[in-house]
Amino acid sequence: MEIDKENNTNELTNKPSDATSSKSTGGGDGAYQVPWIEKYRPQLLQDIVGNEETLIRLQAIARDGNLPNLILCGPPGTGKTTSVHALARELLGKSYKDGVLELNASDARGIDVVRNRIKSFAMNKVTLPPGRHKIIILDEADSMTTAAQQALRRTMEIYSNSTRFCLACNVSTKIIEAIQSRAAILRYTRLTHEQILSNLLKVCQSEKVPYTEDGLEAILFTAEGDMRHALNNLQAANSLAQSKPGGMVNQKMVFQVCDQPHPTIVRAIVDACDTGNLEVALAELQKLWNSGYAASDIIGTIFKVCKAHNTLPEGKKLEYLREIGFTHMRISNGVNTLLQLMGLVSRMTQMTMALQEKGKV
Ligand SMILES: Nc1ncnc2c1ncn2[C@@H]1O[C@H](COP(=O)(O)OP(=O)(O)OP(=O)(O)O)[C@@H](O)[C@H]1O
Ligand SMILES: [Mg+2]
Repeated sequence: MEIDKENNTNELTNKPSDATSSKSTGGGDGAYQVPWIEKYRPQLLQDIVGNEETLIRLQAIARDGNLPNLILCGPPGTGKTTSVHALARELLGKSYKDGVLELNASDARGIDVVRNRIKSFAMNKVTLPPGRHKIIILDEADSMTTAAQQALRRTMEIYSNSTRFCLACNVSTKIIEAIQSRAAILRYTRLTHEQILSNLLKVCQSEKVPYTEDGLEAILFTAEGDMRHALNNLQAANSLAQSKPGGMVNQKMVFQVCDQPHPTIVRAIVDACDTGNLEVALAELQKLWNSGYAASDIIGTIFKVCKAHNTLPEGKKLEYLREIGFTHMRISNGVNTLLQLMGLVSRMTQMTMALQEKGKV
């Protein structure tokens, strides 16, 4: 938390690396470790990676100071909360602390809060740079009740001369239409492997993380476009690596800390299906099941491995993905048994056999 306070009062001229150049706390010396997601939370809009179009719009807002009410929506760990704080910091400078009210899902945000806390903050007099507004950040706004959102509608208008609202959420449809129509909606998408990798490399460098290429690849594979997930896994794998003499963040460590089925085993299953070798496929699947992974973890990894498979013929890959989709649906509906997974593997092998018979493969 100290880091937060420090960063909040940072001068805007600070270089982005200021947060990163501070004393390393990530070593394996048993010292208290600051979570890297907080230590490396970008303070300026320009340091946020990915979602270029959205960030260009935010930077334009920061430059002109012409802030509309905003809704930022998109998947977890893509930089919504970070962006809205960076924007507020750039707009308000030293007044950031007094000019921003943040309410997130951990605060009570019922109608009373909207009526009292938000109202009294909106009525407060705060000295701000000329032409700027106070900012109310409603993080995780999709968890606000509809009643509280309804109460917000008029409030947003009444105080529009002094206050702007920035809402961050995962699903924009959970924000009532009336609020959506009062705000500009900015969308975030999952980050690409390159974008996450660029950030991981920066962190590895400043924390002096010993890593192997396949280790970082494994982190990208498991993160699924979520930067928070990637940084957390990197830190966990690094702690594990530090605890072993000469340890490196490699594939094995990453899958150990992520506790996900190892894609190499899953790849062996898919390859066995692809060559019509049902027995091997079933035996590997049984092994995975015996190690205690849940059906949803296994099907998730089968999907990812299949999607990234580079030698499967395209037609077959599409058929496989279709079958995986159906099985995933059944598992999500509660039929999370080994039998379902075995059925999937059998159908995938059957497809190979059928194609072989037709002489297509
Ligand atoms: N685009 C990004 N560039 C750099 N770091 C990022 C980015 N997105 C996320 N991070 C890292 O992940 C952490 C979490 O990001 P953030 O809180 O902004 O996610 P979020 O989009 O608000 O997710 P949620 O929907 O779960 O609230 C940040 O502290 C930062 O370290
Ligand atoms: Mg957030």
